[in-house]
Amino acid sequence: MARAPEDASTREPYQPVAWRDGRLWLLDQTLLPAETRYIPLDTTEDAAEAITTMRVRGAPAIGVTAAYALAVAARTAPSGVAAAVEEAARRLGATRPTAVNLRWALDRVAARVAAAGSDEAARDVTLAEARAIHEEQHDADARMAELGAALFPEGSSVLTLCNTGPLATAGGGTALGVIVEAWRGGRLAEVLACETRPRLQGARLTAWELQQHDVPFRLIVEGAAASLMAAGRVDAVVTGADRVAANGDTANKIGTYMLAVLARHHGIPFYIVAPVSTLDPHTPDGASIPIEERDDGEVLRPGGADLAAPGARALNPAFDVTPAELIDAIVTEQGVLRAPYGPSIAAAIAAASPVGVEAAP
Ligand code: MRU
Repeated sequence: MARAPEDASTREPYQPVAWRDGRLWLLDQTLLPAETRYIPLDTTEDAAEAITTMRVRGAPAIGVTAAYALAVAARTAPSGVAAAVEEAARRLGATRPTAVNLRWALDRVAARVAAAGSDEAARDVTLAEARAIHEEQHDADARMAELGAALFPEGSSVLTLCNTGPLATAGGGTALGVIVEAWRGGRLAEVLACETRPRLQGARLTAWELQQHDVPFRLIVEGAAASLMAAGRVDAVVTGADRVAANGDTANKIGTYMLAVLARHHGIPFYIVAPVSTLDPHTPDGASIPIEERDDGEVLRPGGADLAAPGARALNPAFDVTPAELIDAIVTEQGVLRAPYGPSIAAAIAAASPVGVEAAP
């Protein structure tokens, strides 16, 4: 397999995002699993295009990529680094609205740049902060994997949606990190991965990642979830998140809400796995989360195949919101959060923030 340029902050067998010799590299996820090709992102526009077209996707991985993209902007600005970074952050921040890690990472780097006293210092802190965000994601993912795996009794069959592995976080993964850890610990009898229409992140990316980690699994169409639950084939549902509102309402890949309703109906626990950077204290509830609507061509021409009736139109919301009351626990690196989520989320954010420093605005 083609490997990413080496990077100190990556510990997975493959590296979705890497910084080497002053250049930002990305594993192009639109080509997986057929091809593992790394592409350089040399400008803000390269990075914005890569995020918009989902060459990189998954909330934390988008944040890590955007942070490094600010380092690119800083290093290529001959002068006026702070203004160049601000402009790049504006452009990148407009690429995908639902994943709050994007805004969180951009704000975090921008705050360091604003406090730097010179162009040279601004260039240095931009890259240092991007590296720190990347490193912290690895640590957070490792802790979530440990905490989340403990939730599954031995012999569990788990069902998941979309892709939440290293590709989606640039660390070890959220929900998929938990699944891999639980498998290694001998807790899982079966892994069911939803194919995840329309972009097939489950069929293309989760399947590929589970193969890289030697975890046996079966793909299902989302429509099979209800009858498999009714047949007793699912003991838990576990997914990631793109944004968790202050009250625990959670935006994730379209279809997540459906799975949560089904899980509750069948008496099956439904778990979210998300780092504290995905918890958004500034969004009060699910109704306030912006839901990205993507091009209808993704539905009408899946994988480029012209399958729909000529003239058909489509609706393509990329995410939905699962109300907090359907979520049995939110696994973060600061602990396993339970209802009432308002206080447990606020406590997790406070525990993760350095004393005296407010959470990202
Ligand atoms: O549209 P995508 O592929 O970026 O959506 C990704 C998801 O919905 C993931 O579940 C989420 O980002 C959590 S990633 C660890």
